Amino acid sequence: MKGVDTVSGQVVILGIETSCDETSAAVVADGRTTLSNIISSQVPVHQKFGGVVPEIASRKHVELVNSVIQEALNEAKVTFRDLSAVAVTYGPGLVGALLVGVSSAKAAAYSLDLPLIGVNHIESHIYANFLAKPDLELPVICLVVSGGHTDLVYIENHGNFRLLGQTRDDAAGEAFDKIARAIGLGYPGGPLIDRLAMEGDPEIVDFPRAYLESGSFDFSFSGLKSFALNYLNRVSMTGGEVNKADFAAGFQKAVVDVLVDKTLAAASEYKVRDILLAGGVAANSRLRKEILCRAGGMGLRVTYPDPVFCTDNAAMVACAGYYKYRRGEFAPLTLNAVPGLKLGADKY
Ligand code: KG4
Ligand code: ZN
Repeated sequence: MKGVDTVSGQVVILGIETSCDETSAAVVADGRTTLSNIISSQVPVHQKFGGVVPEIASRKHVELVNSVIQEALNEAKVTFRDLSAVAVTYGPGLVGALLVGVSSAKAAAYSLDLPLIGVNHIESHIYANFLAKPDLELPVICLVVSGGHTDLVYIENHGNFRLLGQTRDDAAGEAFDKIARAIGLGYPGGPLIDRLAMEGDPEIVDFPRAYLESGSFDFSFSGLKSFALNYLNRVSMTGGEVNKADFAAGFQKAVVDVLVDKTLAAASEYKVRDILLAGGVAANSRLRKEILCRAGGMGLRVTYPDPVFCTDNAAMVACAGYYKYRRGEFAPLTLNAVPGLKLGADKY
């Protein structure tokens, strides 16, 4: 296999991400400089179905992946020969969608004789924070909130993740998407609720908050979702009209309050100074503002990626891949997609 560092002395990694509905490829140098980050979103394709249709997602990835990779190289002004390794998301995610990225990465690694790095999607969301702040020091507590996951993670050192809590039912982003659909907003609902909530009063509708057993770092959003759907039903049955902005603001506050309370409790219990936010919901403006304000009062620092690095993108995959590269964690060419892959449980 080729040696690793390029002429420039930098580790240049091509990242590929196809776990859900974004086809993305990126080139990142030394895990910190994003030379390109091309994201071809399938959102318009899935919008009319109100959510991602797995089979359509896989087909779209097949159509797009090669041109997205080429565009990432062009924009970064590098060629395949300048690469040190190829990193790819191999789980968790939709199996057909993951397979497209994994097959492309294996083909590139094999034909170019480059190391292949398999990256966990959740791990890559976490590492988006190292793009934002490359000198970030561990240990940290990270709240991962996306369309598929709501996890509180303690990270003592690179590659070492301890899951402190997770959702017992819906993920935070999933709850945003379902509630947005119920009030006739589009898909994905999170950003639309975020925007609408800015015009609303969060104190009008008294949404419940689920804290579960004392000291638990787990989450539950299904009760909140049922309350919201029942509320909408009740109002419509009595001929009333819901003020959507107040409703969105109240719902968002109920989600954010629990996320922030539990994250701060974990930071205190594990005595860390740094908190990270990751995943699509980390782009939420209320979550960012609230945690910054409350953590600041406790002497804690908060880091979150730029919004474009919060939702699915390949720069975060290349960044996570860089840290695995430094540890020599390379995958064999038999790497397969693992749709239910758990954080810290690499399957190769
Ligand atoms: O991380 P991501 O792109 O994909 C997954 O791995 O799931 O997250 C997508 C999720 C969607 O549920 C979307 O509604 C939510 O992130 N999201 C937001 C915001 N931006 C994206 N939720 C709340 N507020 C936002 N500003
Ligand atoms: Zn994601």
